[in-house]
Amino acid sequence: MPHEFKTVCVVGLGYIGLPTAATLASAGFAVKGADVDPDIVDELNEGRAHFPEPDLDMLVRGAVNSGRLEALSEPQPADAFVITVPTPIREDKSPDMSFVEAATRSVAPILEPGNLVILESTSPVGATDNMAAIIREVRPDLVEDDTLQVAVAYCPERILPGQMVRELVQNDRIVGGLTAADAERARDLYQSFVRGEIHLTDAKTAELVKLIENAYRDVNIAFANEVANIGEAHRLNPWEAIDLANRHPRVNILNPGPGVGGHCIAVDPWFLISADGELTGLMAEARRVNDGRPETVIAKIRSASAERGSRKVACLGLAFKPNVDDLRESPAVDIAIGLAAEGFEVCAVEPHVNALPEKLWRHDNIRLAGFDEAMAKSDIVVLLVGHKAFVKRKGDVGDKVVIDAVGLWREPSRAA
Ligand SMILES: NC(=O)c1ccc[n+]([C@@H]2O[C@H](COP(=O)([O-])OP(=O)(O)OC[C@H]3O[C@@H](n4cnc5c(N)ncnc54)[C@H](O)[C@@H]3O)[C@@H](O)[C@H]2O)c1
Repeated sequence: MPHEFKTVCVVGLGYIGLPTAATLASAGFAVKGADVDPDIVDELNEGRAHFPEPDLDMLVRGAVNSGRLEALSEPQPADAFVITVPTPIREDKSPDMSFVEAATRSVAPILEPGNLVILESTSPVGATDNMAAIIREVRPDLVEDDTLQVAVAYCPERILPGQMVRELVQNDRIVGGLTAADAERARDLYQSFVRGEIHLTDAKTAELVKLIENAYRDVNIAFANEVANIGEAHRLNPWEAIDLANRHPRVNILNPGPGVGGHCIAVDPWFLISADGELTGLMAEARRVNDGRPETVIAKIRSASAERGSRKVACLGLAFKPNVDDLRESPAVDIAIGLAAEGFEVCAVEPHVNALPEKLWRHDNIRLAGFDEAMAKSDIVVLLVGHKAFVKRKGDVGDKVVIDAVGLWREPSRAA
């Protein structure tokens, strides 16, 4: 291996940590993965990934069978440590850094001079400094002439669920060190498996980069959603207006939808907003617009219901984005629950899951149904997720009222 690192410990084996650990192992490192969840540890040691992701099971099985990947409940000594634990937001929208702090405190006692510690979790600006401060506090013996004898860096993750195994290798990486030398040490680790370019900077800039990437996406989606709000208020087709506007050589408006879900785009802007409220009015407004979309869709369903004289609704799609089975933080789920709370009879059609999560099945008036059953039992059809499975079903809805919140079934634009 063309670098000094032989062993790596990955702390947190979730959506990011597990593919990272398996990729490092297949690049030749001896990898120890640590996770506080014993089920994840057991499943990994049996050679299986604990969530579905193309090619991940194969990668994990190969890494475990080769003896280069092993999971444990606590971090183990290594040349390099990669921290990939959750960084959710609290009720008040401030970042919850308790997992990063706990992970850092679990790593600090086993550090040796010359080790490298990388934070990959999406974090507020200054988090890597805080991590180094914890290491200094726990291990004053690792500080010489006020210099920490451990390299510390921040490297945000940008992989897309559904393409994680490929993107881990192919994406460009941003590596920010607490010092320039720390950044170079971290680059040495990544360059052993990353084929994309590796861009070096300081840790705070790298933290900011990750946050502005997702805030940028959120603001742009909010613009499209605001266009949809305007179009709908004037009974104009926003999809057609957007198609026509995008004929301008320097305009590229995104697709409106029923809201922004997932645990990145809808969450990460808050890391900036909660730190610098006066400087982030645009981002805060984008969050407000996007968070308001589910209620806008429910209002349309209410008025369709009054016109049609029926409260039987088919919700097509529950996932937070097309063609995945992930229902967490999904605006489609919020809409289904909102409808149930108002007494609508909801047939939820989600071809990517076999069962509803508890927050849905505990409502007696929400049931999971196949497409045909939902059509037979509903008068109003709401398209909430642009799954491929729904593309060709427009002709199968008969005379029902259709509310297409994602534009999947929109008429071809007159611009086309
Ligand atoms: N999932 C994504 O698509 C994605 C993309 C880019 C960035 N991120 C960021 O990456 C980070 C991790 O996200 P994720 O989706 O992998 O989260 P996750 O919840 O899937 O996994 C985190 C894992 O960390 C474990 N954990 C928690 N505290 C621990 C501790 N002290 N020691 C050891 N293990 C611990 C949990 O048990 C869990 O298995 C977050 O900051 C997230 O914002 C995620």
